[in-house]
Formats: sequence, structure tokens, C-alpha cells
Amino acid sequence: MANTGDLKSLADSISSVTSPFRNYLSDLHEKYQSLTEGAVADYIPELALADPNWFGICVATVDGQVFEVGNCTQTFTIQSISKAFVYGLALEDRGRDYVNSKVGVEPTGEAFNAIVLDEGTNRPYNPMVNAGAIATADLISGQDGTERLKRMLDMFQRYTGRGHDISVPVFMSEKSTGNRNRAIAYLMLNFGMVGEKLEETLDLYFQQCSILVNARDLAMMAATLANGGVNPCTGDRALDERYVQDVISVMLTCGMYDYSGEWAYRVGMPAKSGVGGGITAVSPGKLGIGIFSPPLDAKGNSVRGVKVCEELSSEFGLHPFSVGKAKRDLAEWIAGSADIDSW
Ligand code: DON
Repeated sequence: MANTGDLKSLADSISSVTSPFRNYLSDLHEKYQSLTEGAVADYIPELALADPNWFGICVATVDGQVFEVGNCTQTFTIQSISKAFVYGLALEDRGRDYVNSKVGVEPTGEAFNAIVLDEGTNRPYNPMVNAGAIATADLISGQDGTERLKRMLDMFQRYTGRGHDISVPVFMSEKSTGNRNRAIAYLMLNFGMVGEKLEETLDLYFQQCSILVNARDLAMMAATLANGGVNPCTGDRALDERYVQDVISVMLTCGMYDYSGEWAYRVGMPAKSGVGGGITAVSPGKLGIGIFSPPLDAKGNSVRGVKVCEELSSEFGLHPFSVGKAKRDLAEWIAGSADIDSW
């Protein structure tokens, strides 16, 4: 007899095969697959090995439906996308007041790896730039580096519903080329913004950037935030509900590098991108989007990922300040009752 998990995956695969929404995503995928702008990140050799044609789009709804097209099981390193989720874990470990005393929530307008702290408070500006992410990693509890990494990996498992490994070659390269991050970390040590176990924290930061995920994972992570911190497929709580708003607020204001303002204007969904080519985007109360396509634009965001999110937001009215009727009704498209003839 089939167990509940089998029935769930059967339901998922049926909705994937027959749904009009899935067909819509498939057309979107085809439309942007031919876009060849952008360049794969090459600051370390392992990232340059990515195939620029890899392209996966996955949407997971808060009621546990999953729609995927393209390369949704191809793994890649999570890179900066980890920063948003580790920030959530730091909030759980230390509480909001303490975390706020160590990391601000202000967009910088500076490059993500800028060696700059707030002059008044000595805090890094926000958890999405490297300085803030290192200060955030420093706040993760655990007896030693191994336990702290395990706590991070367990957290990602609660978000995605599956276990995660790190890419050791990427970690080793990040570590051996990471002198700029080391400089940022020691500047923060000078101001007492991070603790003495700084080399352990730097390793932890390089490891968190090297965690392997796929587009489906990114969609589940976003859907979990959209669902108040509970994974809609497993029912596991990944983040204390009190901190969901904090995490997605900094995603909206700071998640897309120097494109964050433009992103808020055009797309509006809290999101985070990484140099591996991933984007995770949250439509609170509705769904999560995960996209993987390695070629990046000049700001460091996946070219195809930005296009897909812009189109999904505008077609389905996913911008949180959208007033008036969306061009397509999301509920109808997902339920399969949309009037496809007028499409
Ligand atoms: O710290 C670094 O250099 C990279 N591992 C950061 C990765 C990334 O996605 C860029 N971030 N904002």
C-alpha cells in the first residue's frame, strides 16, 4: 500500500504533468532559454565550470503544490542566498535585539564585498553584504565549527525537506581566495563586532556559501517563508514565525545587490540571489519561486532569473503593492480552471 509520502509525490507529479500553470512555466522557460546575455561567475574556477545553458524554474505554493520545468535537480552552490536564511537562524539563536546590535538592516548602495561599516555604530550595514553575513555567521551557536555547520545544514533541511552537503572544492577555493572577506572580518574584530573565534566563523561563512542546492530547494525555501516558516510539504517548522517578517524584509530591501531598489520597483517580491546563478523569491501567503541559471548580469543577478521573476510578478500580480486586477488569476491557473483559450 502506498504511504502518504508516495501519494504526495504522485499528486505533485500529476499536477506537474497536467497543470495549465506548469504549461505556462514551460512557455516562460522556452522564451528565456534563448536569452544568452550575461556571464557565468569565474572568480573561482569551480563556478566557471557551470553550463550557461542550465535553466530551471520551480514554483512551490503554500498548500504544497510544486511545479517545475527545466534543470530543477541540477545542484549548484547556494552562495549569498544562504545569507538570508542564516540571518533567520541567528535571530532564533540570539534574539532580535542582540542581532540588531551587531548587524544593521540598512541597504548600502555599495558592492556586496565592500570593506565598509556604519561609522556611527561600527555595525555592518545589513546581513546580505559580506560584512553583515560574516557577522551573522559569527552569531550561530554551537560548541565548535562542526556543530555550527551541522546546525546550519539541519536548518536548510527543514526548509527544503532533504539533506544537504557542501561542495568541498568550492569551500576550499572560497577559503584560499577569501582574503577580502578576511580583511572585512578583522576590521569587525577591531571594533568588537565579532568574537575571537573568527577563523572558525570565516570557515563557517565559506562553508555556508558552498552548500549544494537545486532550483526546487530554492522554491521550497521561499515557500516555507511564504508559509510563515513552515515547510508546506513536510509540515516542519524551519523558522520561528516571529522572525519571518524580519528575514523577508531585509530580502526585499537588500537581497538583490545594487539592483535591490529596481527589483522592489519592478518585481516587489522579497528575494535573494547568489553568484552560483540562483534566485529565491517569496510571495508571502502565496508561493515561493526558485530559479537557477548561471549567467549573471553586471549587478551579479541571474539574467534569466530576473526576467522570469519580472514576468511572473507582472502577469500574476505578485507585487505586494499591486492594486487592480492581475492579468492572470493565480488561483485559477494553479487550480487548472483558467480560461486558457484567451491566453
Ligand atoms: O563571499 C564571497 O565572496 C562569495 N562566496 C559570496 C557569494 C555571493 O553570492 C555574492 N554575494 N553577495
